[in-house]
Amino acid sequence: MNATDRQNTNPPARKLHIVTYGCQMNVYDSARMADVLAPLGYAPVATPEGADMVIMNTCHIRERAADKMFSALGRLRDIKQADGGGMMIAVAGCVAQAEGDMILKRAPYVDIVVGPQAYHRLPELIAQAHRSRKAVLDTEFPVEPKFDFLPDVAAPQGVIANLTVQEGCDKFCSFCVVPYTRGAEASRPAASIIAEATRMVAQGTREIALLGQNVNAYHGERPDGRAWTLARLLAALAEIPDLRRLRYTTSHPSDMTEELVLAHRDNAKLMPFLHLPVQSGADKILAAMNRKHKADDFRRIVARLRDVRPDMAFTSDFIIGHPGESDADFAATMALVRETGFALAYSFNYSPRPGTPAAALPQVEARVKDARLYELQAELRRQQDAFNAASVGLTMPVLFTGPGRHPGQMAGRSPYAQPVVVSSATALPGEEHRVKITQANPNSLLGCLDKEQIAA
Ligand code: SAH
Ligand code: SF4
Ligand code: F3S
Repeated sequence: MNATDRQNTNPPARKLHIVTYGCQMNVYDSARMADVLAPLGYAPVATPEGADMVIMNTCHIRERAADKMFSALGRLRDIKQADGGGMMIAVAGCVAQAEGDMILKRAPYVDIVVGPQAYHRLPELIAQAHRSRKAVLDTEFPVEPKFDFLPDVAAPQGVIANLTVQEGCDKFCSFCVVPYTRGAEASRPAASIIAEATRMVAQGTREIALLGQNVNAYHGERPDGRAWTLARLLAALAEIPDLRRLRYTTSHPSDMTEELVLAHRDNAKLMPFLHLPVQSGADKILAAMNRKHKADDFRRIVARLRDVRPDMAFTSDFIIGHPGESDADFAATMALVRETGFALAYSFNYSPRPGTPAAALPQVEARVKDARLYELQAELRRQQDAFNAASVGLTMPVLFTGPGRHPGQMAGRSPYAQPVVVSSATALPGEEHRVKITQANPNSLLGCLDKEQIAA
């Protein structure tokens, strides 16, 4: 590639393959990287074989995530060699940010290392890598947020879509790499989010989840210079007529304001479903984690939300075996879980991450962590099954997204994001219908259209 290529109105067709690991933020970033490269002629392809460019968008949250990346890179090297070496390999995302130099040392066949705050510069990095025939690394945190430089979202995003509104984290939990890989907390201006959401809805999106590492700390600027809270932003987005549903994730208990709690009562488009990671039920461990909230703060928020919205359901994240976790601390976590009753929750063994404070502390034995995680996950599985089983017999609005796996079926999502399948020849993607739930499977529900009350 050279400067002339980029000035052409019809750039040469090139094949782009993106592999995404990690959180929804990475999924969103991968789509935006494809948008950034589209004007250069790059079109997405499903496999790395024969691709001109492969981007691995990586996650650094736990050790296993980073290991997965290095083994996948090994496979890409083989494909690159088999293709005669023409394929360009870029490593993006959180491992790129945290371990950029190490990647170039361990995997010299990588051409570009680009951090999550720098991918709007991909076109320059590609040109540079071609020119110099040497690997290039860009893990700077620019002064201006990358959102100022990104093109508008190009492709239709589907009936259910994500929209990043906030990025980065200033909380520095003892165990977590995110503040180092994503940088300081930054919110996108409200006007650009509303414009993007409006465009997405015009292209058929009906449900939007606002994404941020600490999305409820959102404080985006308005054109008049004042900051908007997340509740205010959700209220503005609810005014887009054809948008039916709003969600937001991930929230931190310390930023769960009364205003946001009341949004669950007052904003009819906001779903009665919240992902609120608590990590542990023991105050001693929450303090060691630098979480800045206690177990009772979490209990209060859950109770308050159930007060204003009785059909509210919750999901959460738990870390088992953080340094210092005793049997009694684990018992406090189990007690909190039993008391709360989750629709679903994610739980992980603590994984020491380089450069984070907890990694330097004496560690809980692997055997102990495994036994505790097993016990917690058995309880969470029971709760998830109970939550799904309790849906049977209920009639709930389902937003349809497309055909189901079998002929004649349509699939969609419940207000609690459960996949729901119905036999229907009438429901269309983008429509919301009332569905009577007839059966609960481990990860999905079956139902039939309630013909009396069509909501779409
Ligand atoms: N911003 C969110 C979550 C970000 S990371 C929050 O504040 O909760 C997603 C989840 O990964 C975390 O909630 C945590 O449960 C888990 N996690 C993060 N670092 C981890 C580590 N070092 N070991 C195990 N799990 C971890
Ligand atoms: Fe990580 Fe804590 Fe920030 Fe969440 S709040 S991203 S767990 S440092
Ligand atoms: Fe992983 Fe980075 Fe997301 S570490 S969880 S991809 S913010």
